[in-house]
Amino acid sequence: MSSHGPARPMSSRKSAPLKGDALVPGDKSISHRSLILGALSVGETRISGLLEGQDVLDTGKAMQAFGAQVERLGGGEWVVNGVGVGGFAEPSGVIDCGNAGTGVRLIMGAMATSPITATFTGDASLRARPMGRITDPLKLFGAESVGREGGRLPLTLVGAKSPLPVRYATPMPSAQVKSAVLLAGLNAPGKTVVIEQEATRDHTERMLAGFGAEITTEITDEGRVITLKGQPELTGQTIAVPRDPSSAAFPVVAALLVEGSEVLVPGIGQNPTRNGLFTTLIEMGADIRFENERLEGGEPVADLRVRFGPLKGVEVPPARAPSMIDEYPILAALAATAEGPTIMRGIKEMRVKECDRIDAMARGLEANGVKIEEGEDFLIVHGARKVAGGGTCETHLDHRIAMSFMCLGMAAENPVKIDDAGPIETSFPDFIPLMERLGASFRRENA
Ligand code: S3P
Repeated sequence: MSSHGPARPMSSRKSAPLKGDALVPGDKSISHRSLILGALSVGETRISGLLEGQDVLDTGKAMQAFGAQVERLGGGEWVVNGVGVGGFAEPSGVIDCGNAGTGVRLIMGAMATSPITATFTGDASLRARPMGRITDPLKLFGAESVGREGGRLPLTLVGAKSPLPVRYATPMPSAQVKSAVLLAGLNAPGKTVVIEQEATRDHTERMLAGFGAEITTEITDEGRVITLKGQPELTGQTIAVPRDPSSAAFPVVAALLVEGSEVLVPGIGQNPTRNGLFTTLIEMGADIRFENERLEGGEPVADLRVRFGPLKGVEVPPARAPSMIDEYPILAALAATAEGPTIMRGIKEMRVKECDRIDAMARGLEANGVKIEEGEDFLIVHGARKVAGGGTCETHLDHRIAMSFMCLGMAAENPVKIDDAGPIETSFPDFIPLMERLGASFRRENA
């Protein structure tokens, strides 16, 4: 079962060459942050290009529950009238963040230093994910929480009445943990400092500065030291959300999987904390041109022109993991068709995503005749040009697992089936029609 109705099995079979333009949706990370920062600002925030996937819609509903006005004008245009830093009202009901780890974790941070109580839940995937990594630093501000074993959802968070500023070194590379601490720091007096060893996506820092906060990042012997001055007045902004590099990964890789393809994927965010997949693809020998490079809404953006060509397996440096953490599933699918092994190490964070993504990719690839090796923090895919296919993959409520196997099927000798396409709604609602327009051959199957 998906969280939003019965399971929707689908299959993907060998595709004719993919041709055309692929307009992928707005960036999920920036979309969540636009709604949350809009809600924490005074005045109006106008957003264009918002991802209207279920994850982001759930964050919009949550912001309304905390007292902000959130209105859809249509076609990705939204207006938020915020309550200001410290202005969140206590929600009268439970906050259901659906499948969204980013939504729930950032919202917990945003409310943790206000004198209000809120209870959070989500779908079966989100209820299984660790929340202690968020509630531990939030306790340092003076917030309290009661959750299920391991701090899992449903969880009630009691915001600090007299918050203290915090200095916190993140124990794992996580933009969600960093962002939760920074958002909590907004309503604490003095300076809140987050230190990270490896650079994770920096949208929160860029956007906080854009909304008027005083925030600096210094590279020191301790790591990246991010300092936020508490209790700023944030003012509403106009935000153009760039298209999501993590969603672009699917049509880009599909064009590299299907012989004879040429696809243009316009307007894709090229923030260096997000573009590790493209670096890896080029190392594999991919023909990707970055055209029309420009700045949009403070983020670097380019049009990607991708042409099919033979690829070789590579070893991905572990230090690159934070900048492509969501892209390992689709890279693993592509690696199955490359020549030689693709070695992905230092990826244990993949085990605590929407599902255990190392396990889901390993089992799905094996079911389709691909040889893999797997360990606690690594996955090696032995590429062999031809993929047998013919297997069914369990998607475990994980949109990126579902889309990765739909792409693999486009190059496999026999159809690849997924047990549920429903989760794709969370981040890329148009994925199926968009890929079919390019030439993909998908079929709805009986449950
Ligand atoms: C995200 C951070 C990453 C990423 C997720 C989105 C964000 O998670 O996997 O899809 O928007 O901050 P972690 O912070 O757990 O690495």
